Amino acid sequence: MKKILVTGGAGYIGSHTVRELLDNGYEVVVYDNLESGHKEAVAKAKLIEGELADSGKLQAALEGIDAVVHFAAYIYVDESVAEPAKYYRNNFSNGLVLLEAMRQAGVKKIVFSSTAAVYGEPTEIPVKESSPTQPINPYGHSKLMFEQALDWCCRAYEMHGISLRYFNASGAHKSGELGDAHLVQAHLGTAAIKAALGELSELKIFGTDWDTADGTCTRDYIHVSDLARAHILALEKIEEGEPHRVYNLGTGKGVSVKEVLAATKKVSGADFKVTETGRRAGDPQALIANVDKARRELGFETTESDIEHIIETALRWHQRHPKGFSGGSS
Ligand SMILES: NC(=O)c1ccc[n+]([C@@H]2O[C@H](COP(=O)([O-])OP(=O)(O)OC[C@H]3O[C@@H](n4cnc5c(N)ncnc54)[C@H](O)[C@@H]3O)[C@@H](O)[C@H]2O)c1
Repeated sequence: MKKILVTGGAGYIGSHTVRELLDNGYEVVVYDNLESGHKEAVAKAKLIEGELADSGKLQAALEGIDAVVHFAAYIYVDESVAEPAKYYRNNFSNGLVLLEAMRQAGVKKIVFSSTAAVYGEPTEIPVKESSPTQPINPYGHSKLMFEQALDWCCRAYEMHGISLRYFNASGAHKSGELGDAHLVQAHLGTAAIKAALGELSELKIFGTDWDTADGTCTRDYIHVSDLARAHILALEKIEEGEPHRVYNLGTGKGVSVKEVLAATKKVSGADFKVTETGRRAGDPQALIANVDKARRELGFETTESDIEHIIETALRWHQRHPKGFSGGSS
């Protein structure tokens, strides 16, 4: 049986991936400092409460491990602009501690959670992996820096790495047991659900004069369980091809802000106030993945990313866990 160490496995996407790994017969060790993760989200796996910067503890945790899936990071774009050093330290420097610990422990395979934020304002839609990477905030830059360092380390240390650039991760586990427990809700889908549940008094649309079918921005929403399955495919194919490869993970289809709101109202049966305001600085008009490479090389297909299913599962999670796991997180 393959034994996988999952850093940040107690977080939103990590916990869904841990569940998927366990369901597919992998042995899983979660390594997480629980700063924004939850024990309850990984109750079925072994959990080591540890900090990425603690290289001794990491090295001990890597004993007998076949591959690492690396989620642990800070994730808020706005915070990264206000506190860049915090993001470079955790997302880049602490990532290097992990790579060094893997080298010492002789663990040679790693799947890394990257992001569409590495593209910044995309120069083409849909965005290909070969499109220019020009991040417009420290969050995206810190993730790109780690991707690039990983690329060099894979070549120098004969490692195998795959960086998965997620587009808009959304939805929740269909069981209703796992979901996005962050209290700070930076994502439209979750804000819409909070509005449907009466926790937000209104929702703002930033810009209705974009050059899109209904004038609002479009994004590529991918269900967190589809993302989770992609990690299994990546682990299965990690030794094929170039030492380090990069893949977009999305659906290849754009869903507009107005479509998200309409789907939320339909699925929840609730009406809520929507206010149209001007464009927000730094919002690209469209962010849609070209997923041909992941389809071709990993055999990746989405099966749960229909927007109504995404909203349905997220709604179920929020209804069952109004305060997240025991009381929520940052
Ligand atoms: N959520 C999205 O839409 C999205 C999109 C693209 C990429 N990503 C990437 O996916 C990954 C997971 O994101 P998420 O939304 O699940 O975030 P999350 O905050 O839910 O998960 C991050 C986990 O890492 C842990 N962690 C953070 N720093 C740590 C450290 N120094 N040592 C040990 N543990 C630490 C946290 O406790 C948490 O459990 C991140 O790398 C993020 O950049 C997320």
